[in-house]
Amino acid sequence: MGMKSPVLVLFFLPSRFLHGMIEKSLNRRRKGRPSCSFVCGKQNSKGIICAMKFETIRDLQIPKIGFGTWSIGGRESPDPASDESSLAVLRSALELGYTHFDTAEFYAAGHTEELLGQAVRESGMSRENLFITSKVSPEHLNYEEVLTCCENSLRRLRMEYLDLYLIHWPMRGMNLVDSFRALNQLVRDSKVRYLGVSNFDLGLLKTAAELSETPLLTDQVPYSLAERTYQQNGVLEYCQQNDILLTAYSPIKRRKISGSPILKVMARIKHASVQQVALAWLVQQPRVITIPKSSHPGHQEDNLDAAGIELSSADMTLLENE
Ligand SMILES: NC(=O)c1ccc[n+]([C@@H]2O[C@H](COP(=O)([O-])OP(=O)(O)OC[C@H]3O[C@@H](n4cnc5c(N)ncnc54)[C@H](OP(=O)(O)O)[C@@H]3O)[C@@H](O)[C@H]2O)c1
Repeated sequence: MGMKSPVLVLFFLPSRFLHGMIEKSLNRRRKGRPSCSFVCGKQNSKGIICAMKFETIRDLQIPKIGFGTWSIGGRESPDPASDESSLAVLRSALELGYTHFDTAEFYAAGHTEELLGQAVRESGMSRENLFITSKVSPEHLNYEEVLTCCENSLRRLRMEYLDLYLIHWPMRGMNLVDSFRALNQLVRDSKVRYLGVSNFDLGLLKTAAELSETPLLTDQVPYSLAERTYQQNGVLEYCQQNDILLTAYSPIKRRKISGSPILKVMARIKHASVQQVALAWLVQQPRVITIPKSSHPGHQEDNLDAAGIELSSADMTLLENE
């Protein structure tokens, strides 16, 4: 048997001893360092000044942390009874400073888009200061339907254009050449600024990148400390090497995150929640952005502030190897 790596050795130690070691090491590194690594003007309810971190990609600056809208306004079908509370959720996200909103025609069968459009109009925010992503469902991927579905999303949102339009997930037998003929047309017609895909593995991502007339902006995939499929299958590395964003969805949902001992210790030391540290681990990675969803204003604020939590490379490795 060869030598175990230092990280592996850590895992053979009793957990109380391990927590003590991590805490001491992190405390040494933290001395004199504020919780936010940069100052951009916004003061949160805890008096910490921190603001959004951006990923710069070609001509675009996109927030590292956006807002997911799945289940707002209904799930597979609309739930009009929840409209008031759904609008309140979107209103608070806008007020807190989220500018990237991720939605889809699939969400509440289009009702989520209607509510998002309404909340944006009521907020008085100017359209140019927002970044709106929507998605076409896989059963609508032929040329005509892609064009029609995009028009329908724009009508529901009551917007002139989408910032980003994604194929929601791949379908067996889909004709990507036909789909991208329509998607490229939408960009030429200024209905869509950027194109992307979602849930595409490496082979499909490469095909999509070739078919897109403009550089593909993102592959939106499940990615978190608890879900590394798209790190293991090469998508993350390909994105980082080819200037494509990996948009991490479901970044904090898993029980493995709320129950992780190392996350708990790290969170205590950073004066943050485990969910915030899990988000910080994501957004510190190049070419990675994320879109947590929360119906809870306190959580929405925490998630935005997570971009200000600084993790050293040793912290990143500890978390990654748990
Ligand atoms: N492309 C795709 O196929 C795909 C698939 C799934 C999701 N998505 C997108 O990604 C977005 C996010 O993913 P998701 O909604 O699946 O999961 P998520 O954002 O990882 O987790 C949402 C859950 O976490 C809780 N939460 C959020 N912030 C928290 C915090 N600071 N502390 C404690 N709990 C917190 C929320 O509860 P509270 O509401 O109570 O805060 C909610 O139950 C979706 O809304 C959607 O836009 C895309």
